[in-house]
Order: sequence, then C-alpha cells, then structure tokens
Amino acid sequence: MPSGDRAGENLAGENLAGEAEIVRPSNPEHLPLAGQTALVTGANSGIGEAVALALARAGASVGVNYVTDPDAAQAVVDTISSRGGQAVALEADVSSETQVRSMFSRLLERFGTIDILINNAGLQRDAPFHEMTLEQWNTVLSVNLTGQFLCAREAVREFLRRGVVPEVSCAAGKIIAMSSVHEVIPWAGHANYAASKGGSMMLTRSMAQELAPYRIRVNGICPGAIRTPINRAAWETPEAYRSLMDLVPYKRIGEPADIARAAVWMASDAADYANGISLFIDGGMTLYPGFAEGG
Ligand code: BGC
Repeated sequence: MPSGDRAGENLAGENLAGEAEIVRPSNPEHLPLAGQTALVTGANSGIGEAVALALARAGASVGVNYVTDPDAAQAVVDTISSRGGQAVALEADVSSETQVRSMFSRLLERFGTIDILINNAGLQRDAPFHEMTLEQWNTVLSVNLTGQFLCAREAVREFLRRGVVPEVSCAAGKIIAMSSVHEVIPWAGHANYAASKGGSMMLTRSMAQELAPYRIRVNGICPGAIRTPINRAAWETPEAYRSLMDLVPYKRIGEPADIARAAVWMASDAADYANGISLFIDGGMTLYPGFAEGG
C-alpha cells in the first residue's frame, strides 16, 4: 500500500519494520445483534426460517419455535450451529398460554434472557365469507393474533424485569410483529386472515405506545408477495405468478431473505428510534397498482 494513504497505519509502524501487528477496529455493524437472544415463532419454514438464520448471522442466539415438523426446526438449528451460532428448537403452539409459558422458561433456561421477539407464526384458513366456519375463524385469530399477544406478554415481562443493558442494546427489548400487507389491504375470501392482521397492527401500535417509556420497541413488518409455503398457490404456476405480478409494481416476487434483512435492521439499534411503525416490504403491492393506468 502506498505510504501516506492511511496515516494511522504508518503511525502504527506497518511496513516500516514489516512486523508490526496492526489491529483495526472491528465494524460493529457486521454483528449488530451480538450478545442478544432472539425468539422466532414459526421458525421452521418460510419467512420465520429466513429470519432465524439472519438473526443468527447477525450474532444473536436464537430460539427456533415450531409446532409441527420438528425435523425442519432441527435443520434450522443445525444450520445455525454449523456456522458457529447458538440455537435451540422449541416446540409450542403459540395459541396455548401454557405452551407459550413453557417455551419461554426453556428459552430463558438455555440463554438466560430474551432481547428480541419475532412474532412470526401465522396461518391461513381461507373460505368465502358465507361459508367460513367458526373453527376457521378461531384458528386464524388464535394463532395470528392471540399467539402474538401471548408471546409478547411473556417477552415484555422479561424485558421489564431486566431493563436496558447498555452494552447489549439501547432498548430493554424489541418485538417485531410479522403482519402483512393485509393489515391495510382488504382481502375477499380471507376475512379471518385480514382481520387478524388488522388486529396485529393495532396490537403493535397500542403496545408501542404503552411500552415505549420503558424503552421497549414494538414494530411491525408487513410482507406482501413473498415466496413462502403459506402462499404457494399464488406463485407456483406460471399463470398464478403472472397474475401475482399484476399486483407487484416491482415485478419480482419477494423472497424470505428480503424480509429477514428488514428484521435484522428493525431488531438492531440501527432502528432505535422506530417505534410503532409498519414497515411494508412488498415490492410496492400497497401502492394501489390498479391506479397506475386508470382511476
Ligand atoms: C399472505 C399471502 C399473500 C400475500 C399477498 C400475505 O400476508 O400470507 O398468502 O399472497 O399476503 O396477498
């Protein structure tokens, strides 16, 4: 390297004797979640899996929640371990109060505390409105909304108990609700799902308002048109893909990794002043694309 380019290196003696060890500052942005523990619900597939892997890559220890398919959850744990990270698979149905409490005890036993909760678990039970059964309604509301409440309540109790640990994070805790573009876009044939996501938005905002004084940050991410198992029908055939693209100005399907990058940012201190926001990661799906050529 030409001398004089970096005064610090010459001051430290590099190249002069050819033997000085120069220690440069490490860039903390590379591991923005180092020393933190995260719990990701529904982390054995789709967006949850991608978020769990990304949080681990950012330095967090991760609880990988699942309710079905333990092998898939273990595979996520194994991937994290093979990269030198820490993870544990945690079975629990997020709509069950006792199972959620037991999951949190197991997480705290393993990692000591929790810094980040990703309320990701969610499902669909679609039906025309007049045919929707109470069971379809209750299943969606219980997992997508009550599940977010139950997990958030346990996390908040631990955040309040522990408070801010400045070496770890500016905040006492971070909660990210995995919502959907359907927290604002009505969705015929999916009234239960849209109602659960509209509910998630107001749960997020009300919690954010109540908990911000305790330095607990609560925010939502709103995916739209992401390639996941839950919405396979929307992308797996060429015709389905083409009609999905009519709704996406950016003209590509989103990938779980698109959401994972946003989640890492939102969980990190880089997003410290974000409180109660809905971050839409949807290729422009919420830009009313139908109005691009009309209205
Ligand atoms: C749903 C998907 C749907 C997407 C856009 C998501 O929240 O889970 O099934 O394709 O919204 O409509």
